[in-house]
Amino acid sequence: MSRVVVVGSLNMDLLVHTERRPSGGETVAGSDLLLGPGGKSANQAVAAARLGAHVTMIGAVGRDVFGQRLRAFVDAEGIDTDGITTIDDVATGTAVIIVDDEGENSIVVSSGANARVTGEWVEARRSMFDAASVVVLCLEIPLDGVLAAARAGHAAGATVILNLSPYIEVPDELLMLTDVLLVNEHECRAAVGADLPWDEAAVVLVGNGVGRAIVTLGARGSVVLDATSVTEITSIQVAVADTTGCGDAYTGTIAAGLARGLGLVDAAHAASRVSAAAATRVGASASYPSSADATRLAWGDRRG
Ligand code: RIB
Ligand code: NA
Repeated sequence: MSRVVVVGSLNMDLLVHTERRPSGGETVAGSDLLLGPGGKSANQAVAAARLGAHVTMIGAVGRDVFGQRLRAFVDAEGIDTDGITTIDDVATGTAVIIVDDEGENSIVVSSGANARVTGEWVEARRSMFDAASVVVLCLEIPLDGVLAAARAGHAAGATVILNLSPYIEVPDELLMLTDVLLVNEHECRAAVGADLPWDEAAVVLVGNGVGRAIVTLGARGSVVLDATSVTEITSIQVAVADTTGCGDAYTGTIAAGLARGLGLVDAAHAASRVSAAAATRVGASASYPSSADATRLAWGDRRG
């Protein structure tokens, strides 16, 4: 059976809402604390699983309450958790998130167990890629772990999706192993390294060996590019409560779409609708539409 294999981060998100985000040395009052499942990769896995994809997650948590809760949450989503290792001597990844009245966020991530997902570690789980049709990666685990996963996915003949977030410079080899690069406009410009507007940078990116790319533009929609075409995807206008995890909902939907045989443009239209829905509620995957709602939003009347 064709599987979506998501390799990467699991975090417990500690989220507080404030009128505006504090500047240095400033203290502001916030809402009650919201504890929710997060981590870019876990969010992507949840989004894909809610759309009917068969998802395996490879990652690590600490032997603590956050790790237990995250594992139980991912498991309840029907995601295969055999690839999630519980590690004794490290805390579970944690993200401290502040969301303001505009729905904008600031996030500090403490990697914890995610930092243990190294190249060697991924190599030891290589057989988990055998049935993969899509492999989804982001940059919240060590770069050599991402690279090992991209190599394994590529060798298995899977479509390798890389979300270049949170941005760090990556080796050319990783971009060459990537079939679909997902970036926002800042990541797009940074990835090219020249002082270009994002749309010109995106053209350079696909010219430089990245087969296909999607640039997400928040409320302005997204753009799908390959060597010969540029397709604009309109966004759905919604009342934004919190954009945390919207990019991950987008990425997870792309993965589910490709896994069920959709073309990238059709998958991007679906991703645009699902991620807009995620913006209307507070939290990361806690804000994602239910499986039934997501399926209807993504594929219309067609069944998941
Ligand atoms: O993309 C959103 C995610 O980034 C949050 O869930 C948080 O855990 C951080 O990793
Ligand atoms: Na949200």
